[in-house]
Amino acid sequence: MGLLVSELKGAAVDYSKPVPLFKEEGHEVYWVGSYEEYIFRCNAYLIVSGDKRVLLDPGGIQHFEQVKARVSQLIEPSEVTHIVAHHQDPDVIGSLPLWLKLNPNVTVVTTPRTQVLIPYYGFDRSKVNWLDVSPLDDTMLELEEGALVFLSAPFLHFPDAFVTYDSRSKILFTGDIFAAIQQRWELVVSDFEEHKNELTYFHVYYMASNKALRHFVEKVRPFPVDAIAPQHGSIIPKEFVGEALDFLEELKCGIDLLEEESPARALIGRILKNR
Ligand SMILES: [Fe+2]
Ligand SMILES: [Fe+2]
Repeated sequence: MGLLVSELKGAAVDYSKPVPLFKEEGHEVYWVGSYEEYIFRCNAYLIVSGDKRVLLDPGGIQHFEQVKARVSQLIEPSEVTHIVAHHQDPDVIGSLPLWLKLNPNVTVVTTPRTQVLIPYYGFDRSKVNWLDVSPLDDTMLELEEGALVFLSAPFLHFPDAFVTYDSRSKILFTGDIFAAIQQRWELVVSDFEEHKNELTYFHVYYMASNKALRHFVEKVRPFPVDAIAPQHGSIIPKEFVGEALDFLEELKCGIDLLEEESPARALIGRILKNR
């Protein structure tokens, strides 16, 4: 069993069900995201590991029923123990009040500055169990074997954004980093050259600067990463991880382009034609 991501490349996938990305005794990872004909599709992921049931970036209010239906094919949705919010955006965590209704005792894993903002979706922050993700990269959620490691990713795109590394599956869950705007979505990237265009379109507008990207790439390079699972667009399998990190390291974006022509201009027609 182990990692199943590369096998999903080009495969026909039944998106009405949770899609297994990693399976080993006592540790399973699933895609449980939204399936919609829209270039800005949202991925959500569930890690079931021992007594921990961790839901990452469950999505907006309109995604709630879909994501819950997929989760319920695996576990009772009220038994989710942790919800990770990689940043505060509505497409990432707008559904949190509905998940809190299902299980008021769930632990919400996020950074302090995200914690300030997400109660505006409509819940009382003093009644929530929080796990604070430190900007010092020393926050972990211990599993029976291995851990989820939370690493800060400043200004990508939120000032206090972070990512999650699963040491058992070696999947790096990156939130909006490595997100792609795609007309033709596939669960796993099959053509990385084409995918670079789809990554470019998202990153040049959302990410702060190449300096921020380099800081992040330097931080994650020492980790053995077998797949990159973003919140939008296709999952990047192991064979493209090195190239993906190189691509990000070199990309000019955000304030780098204030006085330059954005490379996304040339891509707009092709990527947005069916919007
Ligand atoms: Fe975002
Ligand atoms: Fe997003």
